[in-house]
Amino acid sequence: MPVTCYTDEKKNIRFKLDTPASTYIMQTADTDGFLLHVYYGRRLKSMETDDLGRIEQHPFLPSGNERERCSFMDCAPFEYPTHGLGDYRDDAFSVLNENGHTATSFSYLKHRVYKGKPGIKGLPATFGKEEECETLEITGEDTANGLEITLFYTVFENTDAIARHVSIKNTGRYKNIKLTKVLSSCTEFYGDEYDTIFLHGSWARERIIDRKPLGYGKHYVSSLRGESSHQEHPFITLLSKDADEDRGDVYGFNFVYSGNFIAQAEKSQFDTVRVMMGINPVDFCWNLKAGEVFETPEVISVYSHEGIGGMTRTFHDLYRNNLIRSRYRDCERPILINNWEATYFNFDTEKLISIAKQASELGIEMLVMDDGWFGHRDDDSSSLGDWTVNEEKLKGGLKYLADEINKLGMKFGIWMEPEMISPDSDLYRAHPDWAIQLPDRKAAMSRAQYVLDLSRRDVIEYTFGQISRILKSANISYLKWDMNRQLTDVGSFMLDKEEQGELFHRYCLGVYELQERLVTEFPDLLLENCSGGGARFDPGMLYYSPQIWTSDDQDPVERLKIQQGTALIYPLSTMGAHVCDCPNHSTGRTTPFATRGYVALAGTFGYELDVTRIPEEDRRMIPAQVAMYHKYNKLVRNGDYYRVASYLENREWDCWEVVSKDKTEALVTIVNVIGRVNYKARLIKLKGLNPQKKYVLKYFDMNTGDEEKNGMTLYGDALMYAGINMTGDYHGDFKGRLLHINEA
Ligand code: GLA
Repeated sequence: MPVTCYTDEKKNIRFKLDTPASTYIMQTADTDGFLLHVYYGRRLKSMETDDLGRIEQHPFLPSGNERERCSFMDCAPFEYPTHGLGDYRDDAFSVLNENGHTATSFSYLKHRVYKGKPGIKGLPATFGKEEECETLEITGEDTANGLEITLFYTVFENTDAIARHVSIKNTGRYKNIKLTKVLSSCTEFYGDEYDTIFLHGSWARERIIDRKPLGYGKHYVSSLRGESSHQEHPFITLLSKDADEDRGDVYGFNFVYSGNFIAQAEKSQFDTVRVMMGINPVDFCWNLKAGEVFETPEVISVYSHEGIGGMTRTFHDLYRNNLIRSRYRDCERPILINNWEATYFNFDTEKLISIAKQASELGIEMLVMDDGWFGHRDDDSSSLGDWTVNEEKLKGGLKYLADEINKLGMKFGIWMEPEMISPDSDLYRAHPDWAIQLPDRKAAMSRAQYVLDLSRRDVIEYTFGQISRILKSANISYLKWDMNRQLTDVGSFMLDKEEQGELFHRYCLGVYELQERLVTEFPDLLLENCSGGGARFDPGMLYYSPQIWTSDDQDPVERLKIQQGTALIYPLSTMGAHVCDCPNHSTGRTTPFATRGYVALAGTFGYELDVTRIPEEDRRMIPAQVAMYHKYNKLVRNGDYYRVASYLENREWDCWEVVSKDKTEALVTIVNVIGRVNYKARLIKLKGLNPQKKYVLKYFDMNTGDEEKNGMTLYGDALMYAGINMTGDYHGDFKGRLLHINEA
C-alpha cells in the first residue's frame, strides 16, 4: 500500500508514503494541529522513527530554553510553512486579507486516501490509473482567514516519484482574499551536507548542469519572464556530497508549469534544509472569492539512492508513461527536414519543393516549412497575427505546396507563433488592446513583436480560430509552435485594477487552453513546442507535445552539454535534435557529418540544412543516417539512459548509453571532442547490462549504413567491470562512434 496512516494514543496522525525505493513521512503535532515533516529518503520498513523533527526538543535559543512558541516556530519542520507567525525561514503561503493582514496558518482538519490521481483544472499534470498510484489529501484550515488548504500527494507504485500540489478554498469568512504566494511543495531535510544541481543557460545554451555545495541562506532559481526560460529552469536537485552518477542520495524536484516559477533551497541556522517550489510570488496576486478554489500546478519529486542516473531514469519513465499523452509518444517520428537554417525567410514554393525532392530521394520523410510564409513577413519585423498565406512566396497556397510534398511521398509540416502580434500587422491595427502592455508606458519591443493577451476570451477564440483554419486548409501533419519573446510591461486592457496580478498566471492558463483544444481537435497532429530554441522546455509543455525544440544551437559539440542537461530530466524521445549545416550558424564550427548524425540520434532526429547545397560526400551519408535512425530509434526512445562520460566535466570527450528495459540490447555513443595524440581507443565501463548475459558488440558503419559483420562477444560483467576499449579513428577533433550491443 503506497499510503499508510496511523493515529497514536495522543490522536496524532502519521502518514507514510512508499514508492519502491523511497519513503516520505509526515505527522500532525500536539501543538495547534501543525503538520510536520519527518522523513524523506530510502525506503523504511515501518513508520516509526526517532524524533527527527526536533518536535519535542527544540534547540537552545536565547529567548528561553523551555518549549515555547517562538523557538518552536522557527525550527519546526513544517510540511507547508505559513507566513508571519514566527517561522522566519521562507514560507510557502501568504495572503492579503480585507484587513490588510498577511499572516497564514495551517492546522490539520481531515484527510482522505484514494486510488488513482485527480487532474488539475486547466493545468498540465501527470496522470495515473487506479492500479498505478494512490493519492493522499491532507486538508488544513486557517480559521482567521477562512481558508481551507489541501495538500495533495500522489504516490506512484512502480516509480520512485511523488506528485504534489496544493489547493486553497475560500470558505467565506471574507468575500475576497488575495493570494500573494501559494507554492506547490515544501520538503524539509535534516542535518546533512548537501550539494545542489540547478540548470542554467541562455539563448542557444540551455540547461547547462551547475552543481555546487549548498551553504547557509536561500539559494534559488526563478523566472519572471512569463515562460520557464532559457536562463534558469524549474528544477532543483539536492544531493549528498558523495553522490555521483551511480551512487548516493539524490532528490530531484521538477515543476510541471511553463510560466514564472521559483525553485529554492534554504539552509537554516540549525542546518536543516527547506526545499520549495511553485509559482513565483513576485507579480502574483490572485483574488479568491468566497466559495472559490485556487489550484497550484504540480511538483514532481523523485528520490534515488542510485545517484544522479537513478533520478534521471525515474523522471524519464514517469514522463514517458504518465505525462506525455500524444499518440506519437510510442512511435517513430517522421525524419523531418526544416528549412529555417537552409533559407531563413528567403524561400518560395519552388525552393521548398526542390529541397523536398532531394530529401525524399535520400529517405527523409517530412518537410517542415518554418517562419516567413504568411502576411508580408520577409524578415522578423512584421505580420505575426496575420495568418494568411503570402501568395507571392507560396504560389498556389498551402494546399498546393502540401499536395506537392505529399506527392513526393513526404509529410508536410508548418511553423506558427500563435501567441504573438507584430505592431506591423492588420491584427494590431484592428486590436492594439490585444497586446500585453501598460497604459502610459512605451512597451518594450523584442524581436519587433508584442505578446497577445491570452487572459482574454476574445483573444483565445481568435487565436484558436486562426490555428484551426490553417491546419484544416491543407494536409498538415506537424506543427512547430514557437514563442519568441518573453513578457514585459505586464498589463491587460481587459482585467480590472484588482486583477492585474493574475495576468502572468492567466497567460499561462491561456496557452494551456489553446494547446489542449489543439490536441483535442487535431489528435493526429505531431506538435513540437519551441521557444526561441529551448526556453519553454518543461514538463508542462510535454503534456501537450511529445517533443520540444531543445535549442537553436545545433552544433554537435555544444549539443553535448545542452542535451546532457536536458536529458538529466527529460526523455531522449522528447528532445528535438537535427543534423545541422556547417560551418554551424551559431558557433562557426565545422564538424564531421557523421558526428552530427550521432548526436541528433539521441533526440528526435532530423535535418536543418539545404540538402541541395551540402557537399556531395555528406549528402551520400544521409541514407546511412536514415538507416541508423530506423535501426536504433526504438531503443533510444524506450530504453534506460546512462551517462558514461561527460564533456562538460572532462572537457575532452562524451559518452552515453541506452539499454533496453529487458537488458538484451544497448547502444553506446562516443564523441571524442578533442583529438588526443596516441589515443586509438577509449576505455569505457558500460552500465546497466546483465552481468550474466553474453553480448555481441558491433560498430555501426556510417558509410554503409550497416553494422560490421562479426563482432566481439563478451559477458555483461566483463563489459561493466573490466570495460572495453572503444576503438575508432580519434585522430582529429570531433570524431564519433556508435556501438550496438545485443544479447548473444
Ligand atoms: C525561433 C526558433 C527557430 C526558428 C525561428 C523562426 O528562433 O527557435 O527554430 O523557428 O524562431 O523565426
